Amino acid sequence: MTGDGTANRRQFLRFLAASPLLPSGLSTDSLSRIFFGRDPERALDSVFQEPALITAPEQALNVMDFEPVARNAIPPAHWAYLATGVDSDGTVRANREGFSRFALRPRRLRDVSVIDTTTRVLGASWETPIFLSPTSSGKAFHPDGEMAVARAALAKGYHLVLSTVATSSIEEVTEARGAPVWFQLYPTNDWDVARAMVQRAERAGSPALVVTVDLKEGSNRETEVRGARADTRQCTACHDSDRYANRMRRKPMFSGLDLSRVTALHPPVLTWESIKRIRDMSRMKVILKGILTKEDAALAVRHGIDAIVVSNHGGRAEDANRSTVEALPEVLEGAAGRMPVMIDGGFRRGTDVFKALALGARGVGIGRPYLWGLGAFGQPGVEMVLELLRRELKTIMRQSGTRSIAEIDRGFVIRRS
Ligand code: GLV
Repeated sequence: MTGDGTANRRQFLRFLAASPLLPSGLSTDSLSRIFFGRDPERALDSVFQEPALITAPEQALNVMDFEPVARNAIPPAHWAYLATGVDSDGTVRANREGFSRFALRPRRLRDVSVIDTTTRVLGASWETPIFLSPTSSGKAFHPDGEMAVARAALAKGYHLVLSTVATSSIEEVTEARGAPVWFQLYPTNDWDVARAMVQRAERAGSPALVVTVDLKEGSNRETEVRGARADTRQCTACHDSDRYANRMRRKPMFSGLDLSRVTALHPPVLTWESIKRIRDMSRMKVILKGILTKEDAALAVRHGIDAIVVSNHGGRAEDANRSTVEALPEVLEGAAGRMPVMIDGGFRRGTDVFKALALGARGVGIGRPYLWGLGAFGQPGVEMVLELLRRELKTIMRQSGTRSIAEIDRGFVIRRS
């Protein structure tokens, strides 16, 4: 699109945003995505910033290049499930915007001929501090689903966390990854079901349970609902019933379990007491995912939790309008160096990862980017996403004069005033 075209488009978007005929709360960014399918981050007035859709993973310049391709490939309802936040998707946007509140302080004249991205987390050696956060329903985005993700993670040396509601089992995924994976737990409202899944994960060799604590039933996912309405396919062919038990039965981690008492994945009564109970179910380490405040971080220390992940569920928990990277400093303060603190939410660039590491995060999770790679091209797409992120992280480490992850400290980042 030419410079004139861009100006016309902006005018068109402003007109739409002001229209009383559209639902309130739709920003020009959301409208831009709906009508032009592009990331507003790339909206520079230059023809060179208007990429054609890539047709092979190797053409991608960054992970965002996979997003529009995946959107074309994935059915609208499934795409909307992947993309959705809650309410007006403000926290999804906030996660991205948060990174711009921090600036880098690169150092010069250091020998950076060798860059080492390896790190240790909870006693394990990782090739990169970037890991794959749990995401559900991989086969909704590509027939190979989590298996393609696990094979790509093996090929590129990434640690992986498998979701309770994945569409492949922990045994299959562990084999495909060629190493133990962490198991993300939604305990449901039935302790017998929770215990059976925890013990199954332990038998599969998983060293850590990642208990997601940030979701309650009924989060208001409007983008998901809009996408489902726009989908003309017959959903009941796969989604046979709205009852939890029936929906869950299709997920391999629930197979063989008595689900007759399951009415919720995210029980309203999940408390610190419940976490103790979960801890006693196995010898696995327990990590809490979804902590956003120093108070909860301090409580996690008091309860002997092994690690936490600062997360707002990719903006799908509450429309709180605070990015995870902005919450990270206070969570680190609450954890007071007593446990590793990891983070996810909106990471798209090596510089985003570098900023979180500099602030003190031990590991950085990605979610949507690898699903874009998966939806767009299957395993080769995921591999390229992982390759690009590794490449970008190495580039900014080299630029900043840091040869190892341990050298990336608070001195490399500054909060903008
Ligand atoms: C599942 O974890 C979801 O966010 O839908």
